[in-house]
Amino acid sequence: MRSSEPARQQTWSSDSYDRHARFVSELAGAVVEWLDLKPGERLLDLGCGDGALTEALAAAGGIVTGVDASEDFIAAARKRGLNVQLADGQALAYEAEFDAVFSNAALHWMTEPDKVLDGVARALRPGGRFVGEFGGHGNVAAIVTAMRATAQRRGGEADLAGPWFFPSPEVYARMLDGHGFEVRRIGLFPRPTPLKSGMREWLKVFRHPFFAQYGAEEDSVLDEVVALLKPVLCDADGHWTADYVRLRFEAVLPG
Ligand code: BEZ
Repeated sequence: MRSSEPARQQTWSSDSYDRHARFVSELAGAVVEWLDLKPGERLLDLGCGDGALTEALAAAGGIVTGVDASEDFIAAARKRGLNVQLADGQALAYEAEFDAVFSNAALHWMTEPDKVLDGVARALRPGGRFVGEFGGHGNVAAIVTAMRATAQRRGGEADLAGPWFFPSPEVYARMLDGHGFEVRRIGLFPRPTPLKSGMREWLKVFRHPFFAQYGAEEDSVLDEVVALLKPVLCDADGHWTADYVRLRFEAVLPG
């Protein structure tokens, strides 16, 4: 039976994120290289999460401000001694304050990308750069398809399976251009991602609202989705790999 009021909004627990999703900050090496942060640069980390990567950027000499829409993440980031603010990335209120805006694994959660780009363009000084990485076209396609197939079989809202913004490079480059950026480089990179905690924990951390709609049947729906995915994303040793595809870009404003 379906719960009458499913929790539709994604919520975050910094504790469970730390235990099951640490790979998100650990796998950010390439986009940090693209950022090429110089000591003393003023940086906005957009969607800073629990601050693991923000802390590394500050240690590299950046004067870093982090923003995130999750209170739990902001509290965890403050415990690291970081300068962070609770804010919706779709309503940024900074004016020409940063040399660079950086974002890792966050932009796909912001489903009003034009509002994000408005705020990022406003937050940057002339000549400032926007460097980021997030889910691109085709990201976690097998995982979303398994959830949608389960919703078709059982009833329920299939669209809760994939609320994310996963654009192609062509689409996102056009959007950046439309907000006054010059795109220096952009690309789509398949990045099969080992899940040390397995698929069940991934689904619980990243897509709880889909399963919550089934109320008391939540656990059996989880079992069903995991069983559908096992032949394609789990190897003979029982190791799971998620079908991540990253979109990485560097864009600059005119000086
Ligand atoms: C990602 O980082 O690509 C991602 C994270 C959670 C859900 C979907 C995608």
